[in-house]
Amino acid sequence: MSQQEKVENIHWHNTTVSKEDRQSLNNHKGSVVWFTGLSGSGKSTLANAVEKKLHDQGIRTYVLDGDNIRHGLNKGLGFQPDDRKENIRRIGEVSKLFVDAGIVVLTAFISPYREDRQLVRSLLESGEFHEVYTKCALDECERRDPKGLYKKARDGEIPAFTGISAPYEEPENAEVVIETDKELIDDSVNKVVAHLKELKVI
Ligand code: PPS
Repeated sequence: MSQQEKVENIHWHNTTVSKEDRQSLNNHKGSVVWFTGLSGSGKSTLANAVEKKLHDQGIRTYVLDGDNIRHGLNKGLGFQPDDRKENIRRIGEVSKLFVDAGIVVLTAFISPYREDRQLVRSLLESGEFHEVYTKCALDECERRDPKGLYKKARDGEIPAFTGISAPYEEPENAEVVIETDKELIDDSVNKVVAHLKELKVI
């Protein structure tokens, strides 16, 4: 059976309970808060801190994190451009399911390519995707080096390491920019939460 035949024989089922029904039960909308930035720029730290703040306000949340997802759902994908693209595509689809479930999903992936981030944005409805750029100078990320990966990359032990031997394309129109080497984390968390309030997500 060809790929085309397989697709033709698959039909979409509408669910009885809608996204809007689920959202009204939660008293807030589903949304994707997409943290992007270099390794060590603070994506996971900030995603977790924002989740805690939202959770404490009774908002249903979930964090999807690069390292964790690569242990399960995306086990076997590497760091060449095509694998990163597939990594982000799958996370985009998973995020869309979370939004459909009425949840605020916070994702922490380097997602270095603009085109891949744009693809995720295009999967979602207007106002459901919020790109948060954790901006941090490469030398500061390298100084932090929480997992010792920059050192390994400099020593030639990790090929295609973002910022060293693979590109990172900075966002041009991120909804929120956080300068993690300049701002206090509490201020950064408040900025993200304020944005979600402004957009009436929460
Ligand atoms: S991507 O680019 O979005 O597909 O990457 P992601 O799924 O977020 O995974 C990034 C984490 O994998 C570790 N790691 C690497 N990062 C970048 N380049 C290379 N070659 C690499 N190899 C392993 C690293 O721990 C990243 O985690 P963070 O949290 O970003 O530091």
